[in-house]
Amino acid sequence: MNTSSQNHSAPSLTGRAGGESVSLIDGKATAATIKAEIKEEVERIVAAGGKRPHLAAILVGHDGGSETYVNNKVRACEECGFRSTLLRFEDDMTEEALLAEVAKLNADADIDGFIVQLPLPRHIDEQKVIEAIDYRKDVDGFHPINVGRMAIGLPAFISATPKGILELLRRYGVETSGKKCVILGRSNIVGKPMSQLMMQKGVDATVTVCHSRSKTLKDECRAADIIIAAIGQPAFVTADMVKPGAVIIDVGTTRVADATRARGWRLQGDVDFQAVAPLASQITPVPGGVGPMTICMLMQNTLAAARHEYYD
Ligand code: GUN
Repeated sequence: MNTSSQNHSAPSLTGRAGGESVSLIDGKATAATIKAEIKEEVERIVAAGGKRPHLAAILVGHDGGSETYVNNKVRACEECGFRSTLLRFEDDMTEEALLAEVAKLNADADIDGFIVQLPLPRHIDEQKVIEAIDYRKDVDGFHPINVGRMAIGLPAFISATPKGILELLRRYGVETSGKKCVILGRSNIVGKPMSQLMMQKGVDATVTVCHSRSKTLKDECRAADIIIAAIGQPAFVTADMVKPGAVIIDVGTTRVADATRARGWRLQGDVDFQAVAPLASQITPVPGGVGPMTICMLMQNTLAAARHEYYD
């Protein structure tokens, strides 16, 4: 499947001072295109007598955010023509019992890939659970074997959020070679893998990672051609931190109170969109930017697992 050949034309947003306009990087539309491509591929595989890809998810407890994410993953499986299995457990589940469920999925030949939704209850060692997953079924790309292989440029399952961002940059024709990319945040799921992917051969950016202890964060941002904000602080990136013409990728999804919404909250990114968008050349909105791409990349990883693309 060639997922990188189609470039999206980006809708114009607002006028900039110089008469140019910022364009929106539309993750929702891109994800819909990719899911349609995946479904086509799945139907080809099934028509040729192959097995329908099957993703399983383990959800422990009743965290509201996790429930939403997992339900969205199950819905995405349906859109892609995958089978899905959701295994739900109460939050008093023991670590031993969870490890036994992981072992069962590892041994189940019908399951191509699976995820254990994070965070887990505090009495369970998350890292121990991640390392118990067969790396060949680790479609989250969290197992140290996948993390390590990705870091040295070997085929591997790559964490869905950074993989989705790379796909957006590619599909929207963002020039990365030799560009200064500042990543805000150093998490294992986003910041660290993102930094490695941006510096890899073929992407070729010059990467700076900033975090809560960085002293020169604002100066680094002001010099950046590309800012990837994954710091988890709503509206952290303000107009005074952005060079005119920069490309802005917003990973933040914090629920903030909003009395104008019926549900009483809205999703706020790590970027002050209203202030920054007029300066940027291209920008992702929240919602509808990076978020939809994350689940879509999990689907791509599951298809790759079913086709044994990285491992036998
Ligand atoms: N919790 C938040 N994001 C993720 C993710 O990408 N995978 C899993 N398993 N849990 C998460």
